Formats: sequence, C-alpha cells, structure tokens
Amino acid sequence: MTQDSSSQTPPSGQKASGDLFNTAAGWVLFAAALGLGLSILADKYFHGSGAERPEQLGYVIAVTEEAGDGPAEMSFAEALTKVTAADGEKVWSKCQSCHSINAGGANGVGPNLHGIMGAAVAAKPGFGYSGALKGLGGQWDWERMNAWLKNPRGYVDGTKMAFAGLSKIEDRAAVALYLNANGSNLALPAFAPAADGAAEGEAAAAEGEAEAVAAAEAGSDPAAAAAE
Ligand code: HEC
Repeated sequence: MTQDSSSQTPPSGQKASGDLFNTAAGWVLFAAALGLGLSILADKYFHGSGAERPEQLGYVIAVTEEAGDGPAEMSFAEALTKVTAADGEKVWSKCQSCHSINAGGANGVGPNLHGIMGAAVAAKPGFGYSGALKGLGGQWDWERMNAWLKNPRGYVDGTKMAFAGLSKIEDRAAVALYLNANGSNLALPAFAPAADGAAEGEAAAAEGEAEAVAAAEAGSDPAAAAAE
C-alpha cells in the first residue's frame, strides 16, 4: 500500500507542475492573442483612414473644378438679346487688322467678312483658306460663330486664323450681331427663358449627381465628415 501511495506521488507532482506549465502557457498565448488582435485593429484603423483620405481629396477637387467651369455662362441665344450691333462695332476693332467688312472689301490677312452670317464657310472668292477651315463645310450660323469666336483653333484644329478668341460670351454675341448687320440678315435664334431654364436644370442635375457621389464618399469616412 505504501508502495502504491509512494509510487503515486511522483505522477501527482508531475501533474501539479504540468498544471502550472499549462497556466503559464495559457497566459503567454492570451498575451500573444491580445497583442495580435490589437495590432490587427490598429492596422485596420490607421490603414483604413489612410487609404480613404486621398480618394476623398480627389473627389473634392473634381467637384470644385466642375463648379468653377460651367454654370455661370448663359446661352448664346440669351446673350444675343443682351447686346447690340453697336456694342459689336467696338469688339470689331480686334478683328479689323485682318478683316474688312465693307461690301466688296479687300481680303487681308483674313477674308473680307461682308455678309458672312448665313454664308457658306470658307467661300470668299480669292482668299487662300486653310484646308482645315475648308473642311468644316456648311454655313455660318449663330452657334457655329459662337464656337468659332470663342476658340478658333479649338473649333477648327489647324485654322490659320491667328486669333486667341473672345472669352466673354457677350463680346461674341455683340460682334456676331455686328457681322449680321453688315450684309447679312439672319433671324435671331429663338430665346425662351423656359427652354433656357430646362438646359440649366440639366446642368444642375449633372452637378447634383457629382455632389451626391462626393457626399456618399464623405459619409463612408467619419473623419472627412467631421472635417466638413
Ligand atoms: C490675326 C489675324 C486675324 C484676326 C485678328 C481675326 N481673324 Fe478671322 N480670320 C483670319 C484668317 C487668316 C482667316 C482664315 C482662316 C483659315 O483659312 O483657316 C479668318 C477667318 C475668319 C472667319 C471665317 C471666314 C469664312 O469665309 O468662312 C470668320 C467668320 C472670322 N475670321 C471672324 C473673325 C472675327 C469676328 C474676328 C475678331 C473677333 C477675327 N476673325 C479676327 C485672321 C484673323
């Protein structure tokens, strides 16, 4: 019996030290798991906000550019109702170094422009047009004259009209009226405020869409939302 009990002692002692070991190992595991968990959380948190921030800034910049570009400008049809041919005579001073306007006037650096509104593009006799302008085809109507005078090289890539363009829509409308009063008599385009409002509504809708995208992005990033 004593042998049995003495023979049982070592195993029970071993069992006690085994428990101790297990407990210690458990704490080590627990600490390791805790550390790993914290580092995953930290990584997720910092990486998450770090990755979204540039994207957020990109959207903000894009919306600002769109807003700066478009909405202020009225339609050409409306601009034509706000100015007169007399206003256009002043703007014409920028054209007359290259163009004459009188009937039968000489071609200069550019062709004579008498009766140009409604006339065929690049069709004045005796003037050597660029291939680019000859290739445009059609007639000079209000919208085309507007686009041409805003940015000649943008509208007809390769034109030899060395003129930067008139950035103000009122100036383009005025000089177009002046051209129209010198040998042409095109009817003005219909201008109905309602139709114009509809066009503006379309632009506003497109803008609203861009803003909604930006807002959705901001909503997914609490830091950016708080910053606003
Ligand atoms: C530096 C000289 C120069 C100035 C300034 C200039 N033009 Fe011209 N313009 C030209 C030339 C050159 C052409 C022919 C372009 C071509 O063949 O590509 C032309 C062509 C045109 C045409 C097309 C004529 C046609 O027969 O189809 C119109 C319209 C016109 N110019 C209007 C204007 C108006 C309006 C202004 C002033 C706001 C102006 N231009 C200022 C040189 C000039």
